[in-house]
Parts: sequence; C-alpha cells; structure tokens
Amino acid sequence: MIVNTELENKGNLFPSKIIDFKKDVDKLYFTADNDVILELTVVRDSLLRFRYTTVGNFNNDFSYAITQYASIGYNKLEIGETKTSFEVLTSKLRCEISKEDMRTSIYDAKDGTLINHDENGFHWEESYEHGGNIVKMSKVSNDGESYYGLGDKPNHLNLKGKRFSNWVTDSYAYGKDTDPIYKTIPFYTGLHHGKAYGIFFDNTFKSSFDFGHERRNVTSFWAQGGEMNYYFFYGPKMNDVVESYTDLTGKPHHLPPLWALGFHQCKWSYYPESKVKEITSTFRKLQIPCDAIYLDIDYMEGFRCFTWNKAYFPDPKRMVKELLDDGFKTVAIIDPGIKIDKEYSVFKEALEKDYFCKRADGDYMKGKVWPGECYFPDFTNPEVRDWWSGLFQELIEDVGIKGVWNDMNEPAVMEVPNKTFPDDVRHDYDGNPCSHRKAHNIYGMQMARATYQGLKKYSYPKRPFVITRAAYSGTQRYTSTWTGDNVATWEHLWIANLQAQRMAMSGFSFVGSDIGGFAEQPQGELFTRWIQLGIFHPFFRVHSSGDHGDQEPWAFDEDVTAIVKKFIEIRYQLLPYLYTAFWNYTDHGTPLLKSLVLYDQDDVQTHYRTDEFIFGEQILACPILEPNAKGRRMYIPRGNWYNFWTDEVVKGGKEMWVDADIDSMPFFVKEGAIIPKYPIQQYVGEKEITEITLDVYYKDGKEESDFYSDANDGFDYTKGRYSLRNFKLTGKGNELIINQHKEGKFITPYSTFNIQFHGLPFDIVEVQLDNETIAHKSLRVNNIESITVDKNFSELHLKGIKSHS
Ligand code: GLC
Repeated sequence: MIVNTELENKGNLFPSKIIDFKKDVDKLYFTADNDVILELTVVRDSLLRFRYTTVGNFNNDFSYAITQYASIGYNKLEIGETKTSFEVLTSKLRCEISKEDMRTSIYDAKDGTLINHDENGFHWEESYEHGGNIVKMSKVSNDGESYYGLGDKPNHLNLKGKRFSNWVTDSYAYGKDTDPIYKTIPFYTGLHHGKAYGIFFDNTFKSSFDFGHERRNVTSFWAQGGEMNYYFFYGPKMNDVVESYTDLTGKPHHLPPLWALGFHQCKWSYYPESKVKEITSTFRKLQIPCDAIYLDIDYMEGFRCFTWNKAYFPDPKRMVKELLDDGFKTVAIIDPGIKIDKEYSVFKEALEKDYFCKRADGDYMKGKVWPGECYFPDFTNPEVRDWWSGLFQELIEDVGIKGVWNDMNEPAVMEVPNKTFPDDVRHDYDGNPCSHRKAHNIYGMQMARATYQGLKKYSYPKRPFVITRAAYSGTQRYTSTWTGDNVATWEHLWIANLQAQRMAMSGFSFVGSDIGGFAEQPQGELFTRWIQLGIFHPFFRVHSSGDHGDQEPWAFDEDVTAIVKKFIEIRYQLLPYLYTAFWNYTDHGTPLLKSLVLYDQDDVQTHYRTDEFIFGEQILACPILEPNAKGRRMYIPRGNWYNFWTDEVVKGGKEMWVDADIDSMPFFVKEGAIIPKYPIQQYVGEKEITEITLDVYYKDGKEESDFYSDANDGFDYTKGRYSLRNFKLTGKGNELIINQHKEGKFITPYSTFNIQFHGLPFDIVEVQLDNETIAHKSLRVNNIESITVDKNFSELHLKGIKSHS
C-alpha cells in the first residue's frame, strides 16, 4: 500500500544488501548499504525484538508500554553465517536474516517449522509533510493461518481477512464494524500448523494491521511515523504467547481489592445524595449483593474536576462514610478537561505551573468537553503526573472515595470533526518532546497512570482501584477498563462477549462492558441475559446514560429482579475462584478469560468460535445472545464437563444443544475441578467467613486446582502473607484422593472446608484424613455427598462402594 508518493514520488523504499554486522551482548546490528540498520535484540530465547532505522542511527529508545519488570535473559545465543544469510540461534528459535535484502525468517529451533517470514519485510515511504517515514512491514500469511488480539475491536474474534487501524477514539454508540474505537493494543497472535506466535508493534503513532485483506497471502502492519519496532514472541502455545506479551508490557502491579470484583452499580448520574441512598438502600432491602456505587459527572460543581456540587452533595464525607458503613464503596469520575476558570484552583495552579498542553505555536490547546471550554494537562510530563496524583489527596484521604473512574481520556473533544486534539499539539513524552501524532494513543494511559499513582499513595495501606476508557498496551499495569459507550441491543451483547475475550487475549483481563447497554433502553430479557454474561467478566458493572429510564436490577419486573439476584449471588459465591484466577493473572500473566482457541488450539474447531469461553481455568461459559431462547447450540471443548445446573456430564469435542431458559445460562465445570466458594454476602466483608465450600467434580483420572486467598485488600500478601493451596485430585473406581499442598504465611479466617462431591460414582464408606480413618457425617442431598474437614489436611482419601442411587 503506497500512501504518500505525490510530493517525493519515491514510493516504497527497501533496505539494500547487508554490508556490516556487529554484536553487542544481546543486541545484533545488521547494517545495509543504504544506511538501514536492523537492531535485533534477543530478549529471551522465545522473544526477539526487531528495530529498524533508515538514517544510520537510532533515536532515543523509549517506550511507555514496556515494563521495567519484564523478564529478560536467554540460555543460548549463537550466530552463524552462510553465503546468503546470517543466522541467530537461541534454544527456541532460529532466525535467518538475508544478506541480500534484510528479510527475516523465523523457525522453531527444535523441529525446524517455519513460523513467520517476511514478504516484503521492512520498507518505508518518506513523509515530506511530517518528516521521518511511514514505516511498514509485510509478512507471508501461512496456509490456514488465523489471527487474534488487537484489544477492543468489536469484530469477529478471528481477524483473518480484515484490516484495522489504531487511533484511540471516543466512539459513542459504536457498532460491530466501527474501527478504531477506544483502545490501541497493537499486538496480535498468529496461529498456523498448530503453532502460535505473537507480534507486538510498539509504535504509538496511528498504526494499521492488515490480515490478508488487501492480499490474501500477506499480513502487514504500518504506522504513520516513528520506528519499525516490533517484538516477536514464540509459543508454540497461544497461552504462552499471551503470557509472554503480558510479562513484557506488564502484569497488574497489584491484585485489586476483592470488593472490586463484586457487583458495581452505575448510571449517568445518580444525584442528589437522596437518590444515591435510595439506590443503595434498595439493594440492601432486596438483598441483591452490591459493592460499589458510582458518581458520574454531576457530582461536581459545573463539571470541575476535584470539586463537589454542594447543592446535591452537601457533606460528601459524611455520605461516603454512611455508604461505606452499609458496605458500599464510592467510585467517582474524573475527566482530563480542566475548565477554563480563573477562580478555579486546579485550573489556576496548572496554568501557573505551565502544565497544560500547547499547540505548536505556543497557544494553549483549547477544547470543549462537559464543563465547556477546557485546557488539558500534559500527562506525558512526569512532573504533571506527580501534580495530578497529588490532587487526589482530599478525595481519597479526606472524603473517603475508594476508586476513580477516568473517562474522556482519548482525549475526547466535542464539536470538532476529529473528536480529539489536532496533530500539532505538543507533548513532553517523558523528555522526548513530540507532537500529538505520537502522543495521542498514550495520552489516556498516562492519565490513568497518574491517577493510579495518586490512589496508590492516598489509599495506602489499601489497594488502589482505577478504571479507564482509553488505553495503550501496558495500561493493564495500573487500571481496570470498560468497553465504552455501547448500546442496549442483542448485537451489543455479542460484542461485549467478544471484546472481553479479545481484551483478555491482549493482556488486559480486568475488563467489562456497560451491562444492559449505555445508550438506549434494554428490555428486561436483554438485561437479564447481559447480567448472566457479566458475572463471568472480571469487571462487573451496570451503567447507562440515564436519559432513557432506569437500569437497576429492579427496574424491569419481578421475574427479572429475581433472576438477576440469583446470578449476582452466583458471582459472589464464585469470588474465591475468580480471585484465584486474578492472582494467576497478576502472577503469571495468565488471561482470566480464555477463548476456546486459547484453551485448546490443537482442536481446529475452536479457531472460528466466538461465543464460548473459559472463565478462569475450569469453568466454561456461553451466553445466550438471542431473545426468546430456551437454550442454544454451543461447542463443548474436548474433555468431560459437568453441567453446572444439573451435574450431568457431557463429553466435549462437539457442538450440542444446551437448555437455558431465561433463568439459566449454559455453563459447565471441568471434570476433576475443585471450585472454592464463599457463602452469599451482600458485599465483600459483610460476613466473617469461617468455612469455605469446595465443590469437587469427580473425575476418573487426575486434575489440579488452585485456591488463593489473602486479606482481600492491603499489601501484606506481597510479603508472603497469602495462602496458596494446590489440590491434586485422583479418582479411580471406588476411590477419590485429594492431596493438598499449602504455601504462604497467611492465616485464613476460615478453618474448615465443606466439601461437596459432585458426580461421585460410589457411596462413601470410609474417610481417611492424613492416613487416619475419621468418623464422618456424610450427607447426601440431591445426589451430592458432603463432608466437613479441617482446612489443613494433606491427604483426603475416600473409599466407597458402588452407588445405587
Ligand atoms: C462518557 C462515558 C460514560 C459517562 C459519560 C458521562 O460517555 O463513556 O460512561 O457516563 O461520558 O460522564
């Protein structure tokens, strides 16, 4: 694709032949005759970085995406040379670089499979208008190759045959094919011949990806400026690719406070105080669990950030405390636009300190948002981020707000055609001054980062909780996110499911949608189905624009209220299971939601599935996406699965009909799984939990499960005060053995496990705990046997006789 040939008329330019090679520890430099240099860094045995310049030297190497905590280091690095190419060999990969034209080919070092190779490879066009280049890369698309990732694209999970661009955009009421929308995550996974690899194009300019759309056998990506700078991750398991990308761009810095995984109720807007209280007390009256209540822009005085409308909220501190006493954490919105108002202290201070973004010729960047005309802090300046983080002191420390919601941080500007800043706006970019063309995609990320810094400081010793709308790769380190202004339609329920899965496979698992739809009004049935999906999304919040009626669980009819309550209760019971999955995400980068292809890439049936996904490690869920449904057809992945509602075991590897009337939804538990559960609470911490239920799903064979717990907030867990229990289940005929391995110093408030055995093929006659037979009171209710044991057993051994029930 040639973009900009009119002025220079040079067209695409290519590296010429390699005339020099140098090695500097982990960095290899290949220099071409025409001043192109390829800097190849061996980050790990399965992770290579490719970076190109066309002018003989590189600009400062700086990235907002890459975390300082990324793991680096390789076991093997050997360089070879043939007549036609250089060869870089690690324990996982062999990379060939052609001497003739710098094109690269990457092979699996063990079995020699060609994983990824350049078609035209690196090429570029000079940009007369802006200077620098439009940098391009094209790769051969392999036979049967599929593509996944790219963040929040509201499109089929498999990106094959499509083209996308990345430019963070405020997208009110976006649709299925709208592109781009709120996030820029230029990372994708390719899968062919059973092997997966990933490419992360770390370039913040407007970028594009083409997956065989323009030419069937070619995949390409390019950006309107900056460097061709990409990372290549090798799996061959897709899960390893995603974990490796997440390690490089950062796992969340902390676990969220457990309450943040509870249910959140939001609307634009709940005010005044009496309305907020009416909502929260209705939750308690109807006994529908809820942990967080949101204040949208109307809590402020004329939409000035860090102020309160005292007519609506005369005493915020008192209100926030009263809400907290009732178990509600208050979350408040903060936008980037600062109202131009000489009487407003935040504005005055930023003006005095010269913290606002300016146009190229020195004027302020002025734009309209909710408060009217605004200036915007330059969050790419570390000093500005520090200042911004300090602004949260009163809100957090004094008023007691527990979470902050950053919105409009694309940055959104109203009543202008491009919906954002013009290209010439200047940014500090952490000491690498640049125009908005380069800083646009990371502006929102840096705002969320500054907000996170503030919350971290002032919430301490509690954990910070932030939500953002705009994001670039790496934003997952600081904050959760939602998918923006969706619509109350069935198609949007499909989109929400897809976006959450796609975000999870793009390293950003703490995600959810506006349940019920932000724009327009859902019917009770749609709302119910959306809540059912929502209980499986890490961020679980109802939100709506509020100009079309109510969207609380009781706003429809009594049947809806009852079903919604039932599902929110299931979410609260599953909190220990979800928290364990979150720990796994924070610790290993393991995505919290796994699309079927990510779960079992060797089964080609999964490559084009969109609806089914694995929640955590062992629960299979599939939302109902149509009205009037009494169930649906869905694909059950390979293995045996227990229907959550009936305990019927189904054998996977096939599509089948699953009943799910409006009060149900298809979900299954993996055979052999041990699922930790809480009792139902109205909010996290309502009850002291002295006993955990373990749902054990019998398997003839072996399966492992984890159960992580800690204080549910605070940072003690980082000093070893956590409890990690690994269960190894072995079922054979009339016996079941569970071995427990314990780790960590946390003394859990629970002392016993109530173990519920599902699908046990025998009646228990003997229970041995650590090799001693114990008297047991086993109860069989609805075909589920249960016993209660001390939490610290090492081995639980059940013996039985064949059940006749
Ligand atoms: C934007 C947000 C939405 C919010 C509204 C008012 O549209 O996406 O969630 O309610 O602004 O603040």
